[in-house]
Amino acid sequence: MLLEDFPEDIRPYLEPKPSGHPIYECLACGARLAIDQLYYTCPTCGGLLMIEDLDFPRLRSQPGSFWRRLFDYRLIYNRQATRGVFTFHEFIAPNLPLNDLIYLGEAHTPVVAAPNELAKEIGTLFYFKMDGQNPSASFKDRGMAVALSYLKNQVRVKNLSSVIAVCASTGDTSAAAALYAASLGDSVKSAVLLPKGRVTPQQLSQPLGAGATVFELPGVFDDCMKVVERLSETYNVALLNSKNPWRVLGQESYAYEIAQQFDYLLGDIVLIVPVGNAGNITAILSGLLKFHRAGLIDRLPRILAVQSERANPVVLYYEQPSNLRAYSPVKVRPSVAQAAMIGDPVSFPRLSKLAADYEKVAGESSFGVVEVNEQSIMESMLLANRRGLTICTQGGECLAGLRAALAKGLMTPLETAVLDSTAHALKFVDFQNAYFSGSLAKEYGVITKPEIANHPRELNFDGLEVPKVDRPLEPGPRETFVRIAADKIASALGLTT
Ligand code: F0G
Repeated sequence: MLLEDFPEDIRPYLEPKPSGHPIYECLACGARLAIDQLYYTCPTCGGLLMIEDLDFPRLRSQPGSFWRRLFDYRLIYNRQATRGVFTFHEFIAPNLPLNDLIYLGEAHTPVVAAPNELAKEIGTLFYFKMDGQNPSASFKDRGMAVALSYLKNQVRVKNLSSVIAVCASTGDTSAAAALYAASLGDSVKSAVLLPKGRVTPQQLSQPLGAGATVFELPGVFDDCMKVVERLSETYNVALLNSKNPWRVLGQESYAYEIAQQFDYLLGDIVLIVPVGNAGNITAILSGLLKFHRAGLIDRLPRILAVQSERANPVVLYYEQPSNLRAYSPVKVRPSVAQAAMIGDPVSFPRLSKLAADYEKVAGESSFGVVEVNEQSIMESMLLANRRGLTICTQGGECLAGLRAALAKGLMTPLETAVLDSTAHALKFVDFQNAYFSGSLAKEYGVITKPEIANHPRELNFDGLEVPKVDRPLEPGPRETFVRIAADKIASALGLTT
């Protein structure tokens, strides 16, 4: 739609101008720092940082209905810079000018209702938000769009060259980091650290394809994370893990979109979120609190964090009585929800603070945890696929979480669940294939049920002339082959004439 076709009162706002006064704020000691430098942790006490907009009150000077209308109109305003996460520019990184914003097609992923059969089997109406439909096929693109836009801004303003951006990853952060860095050409080069054998071949192919330098390290994600922390403390690199507070801002867009996709009515909704490094759930809580503070939503949804029993530090923490809670990292065991297989989530201090803030506003039962086992994760993913939804294993973890939550009375069928399929199914398809062929390594503790396994069928054409790639059949033998093949397929399918 052309600018002149928008309502007159909306036109001046469609194109955002740099605004606000964002600063870094340390969660541990409260120190405040200017954003003219990239910090990951507080230089005074080493605590985690969040970005706060000191001029947030300006957003409240407009009624919630103004922002709701503006953001809905922005969806049909054809300007690259205000696409994706920057539809919500004023709430995300209002300081960044439009010419620094990167858009590679991320965000505004669909929310899809579970088809009837699936909803009936699970016992409630629910939706999946398909965040695998992002450019690098996971939700990580939301955060990278902002982190790399900020880096682009810094490169331009400070005339920097050859910045090295690094991250540790279970496979998706690295794919997103490499892709968004690649979009900046030679000014930013990315290097990624992966636990050898613990990312899927599809995930490994992504940073390789984007031209990143890829290091495979022994151990698990938590070990790679320690190395990358050391790198960022000792050398001059730009850290792209979710310690980087700019990423959190971008990932808040997941919450903003859900608000928009449910007409800003979130009162009876329960968001189910898989937790690994705890960056995603932190961002969702933060985003919802901001929309609530600015009056875009009246009622906050409930949030359930889901973890596998094999990587469950957050569940173990919240299952303790609230006055006795003590955090300890866990030793992870192999999980098919491999991207969330993290024993010592870096963003845990952010999560515990934001969950407490959230409960203060939305009530005690507004934040909860639920634990699931590997068999249920795997079979939930396969079930969704057999009913029309292709979700990743972490999406399977959410569906397993929904089942467990209903069974334990943590939610009721009167509530509407929105589950996060955080990545595309095809990134994790080797788990499906291994399950089907019964070759999933014993260490995952998942047993193949033959009734669920699916295999391609071959037909027996012994004695018949069959086509070959380099030798098509002549018309006569071809007709015979087609007739016999069709009859064999009809017989296998039980078809009658
Ligand atoms: N789902 C997927 C597909 C992920 O890649 C991750 C995290 C999570 C869920 C958990 O989200 O860490 O924000 O709590 N992957 C990171 C990575 C750690 O390196 O790709 P979280």
